[in-house]
Amino acid sequence: MKYKNALVTGGAGFIGSNFIHYWLKKYPNINIFNLDALTYAGNLENLKDVENNEKYHFIQGDICDKKLVDKIIKENKIDLIVHFAAESHVDRSVLSSKDFVKTNVEGTMNLLDSALKNGKIRFHHVSTDEVFGHLSPNDKPFNEETPYDPRSPYSASKASSDHLVRAYYYTHQLPITISNCSNNYGPYQFPEKLIPLFITNLMEDKKVPVYGDGQNIRDWIHVDDHNRGVDLIIEKGEIGETYCLGGYNEKTNLEITNKILELLDKNQDFIEYVEDRKGHDKRYAIDFSKMKKELGWQPEIDFGEGLKKTVEWYQKNQNWWQKIKSGEYLEYYQKQYQ
Ligand code: NAD
Ligand code: TYD
Repeated sequence: MKYKNALVTGGAGFIGSNFIHYWLKKYPNINIFNLDALTYAGNLENLKDVENNEKYHFIQGDICDKKLVDKIIKENKIDLIVHFAAESHVDRSVLSSKDFVKTNVEGTMNLLDSALKNGKIRFHHVSTDEVFGHLSPNDKPFNEETPYDPRSPYSASKASSDHLVRAYYYTHQLPITISNCSNNYGPYQFPEKLIPLFITNLMEDKKVPVYGDGQNIRDWIHVDDHNRGVDLIIEKGEIGETYCLGGYNEKTNLEITNKILELLDKNQDFIEYVEDRKGHDKRYAIDFSKMKKELGWQPEIDFGEGLKKTVEWYQKNQNWWQKIKSGEYLEYYQKQYQ
């Protein structure tokens, strides 16, 4: 790895914390500076086991804080930015777009400006397949050429950030890459997203709220496969390029629900069909042939195995999610679904 001092934003969240674990193991010589505002989704418990690692440094702060970002970059001779920080939950963006535009658009712009000002720092932007809109059952999966067509305030804010990142490459030759990945699952995922919400509800003997008819489709990928892809793009990706990552693993929400019910030995009575999400995207799917052809990447973790291990992780780490669910999240959950 040619980089020495990496600024990782949003490293206390789900994907970012898994990325930091992976990188500290893979590159013991790189300094990692984790800038995270610790919003409701950020959790330092995700990184408890590495907090004494001398290569890991945590800074609590907002990516929208220009002075702070500049200071971190200058003082620590940052030569790489890996940008995970975002407001990430579609349902919250349906309730209010404000924080999504602030963090995802303004925060990304702020990081880009600092990267530019401080010597055109290498910048990897972590994005989502949701920027491409949604598919009908017979449509071809999204790829790097698919026109943007975001349909939720979340995906619109991520699309906007992708456009800005690309614009800094074309306008200022900032050395950027972008990855657009499908739905992740794995340890440390906040229990507001489908898989951890359903696992933890069932462990509490609560019902699981399936939106609409449960026939919406997502392409699930294990977070470790995603992060292996991000790592490869940082190392070997071509500057200015976008890469799509997916699990080649399309499942309806009802299929996912039934697998989780089975793993936790629960019956169909635990399913509660609730009102559909507004503007609920029908189907996401990713064609990752560019990643395969150019960087030799493909997902490796079998979904059945990955889901089983994820359920086991939530069983072993009840303290982690119970604290979350009994606090701010519970209020949110009660307002939304009860
Ligand atoms: P998450 O919500 O679990 O974590 C987001 C982190 O960003 C939190 O630690 C939060 O405290 C931090 N953060 C939020 N606003 C901030 C701000 N203004 N300044 C500093 N830190 C801030 O999200 P995640 O699921 O880990 O997603 C990480 C990235 O990956 C996001 O950019 C998301 O769009 C993208 N992504 C997620 C998925 C998925 O399935 N979860 C799939 C593809 C892409
Ligand atoms: P989610 O995990 O929120 O990810 P995204 O909306 O970014 O794809 O939701 C995954 C799918 O599960 C989506 O089709 C909405 C559905 N869903 C439910 O049916 N019930 C729930 O309680 C949640 C959170 C999601």
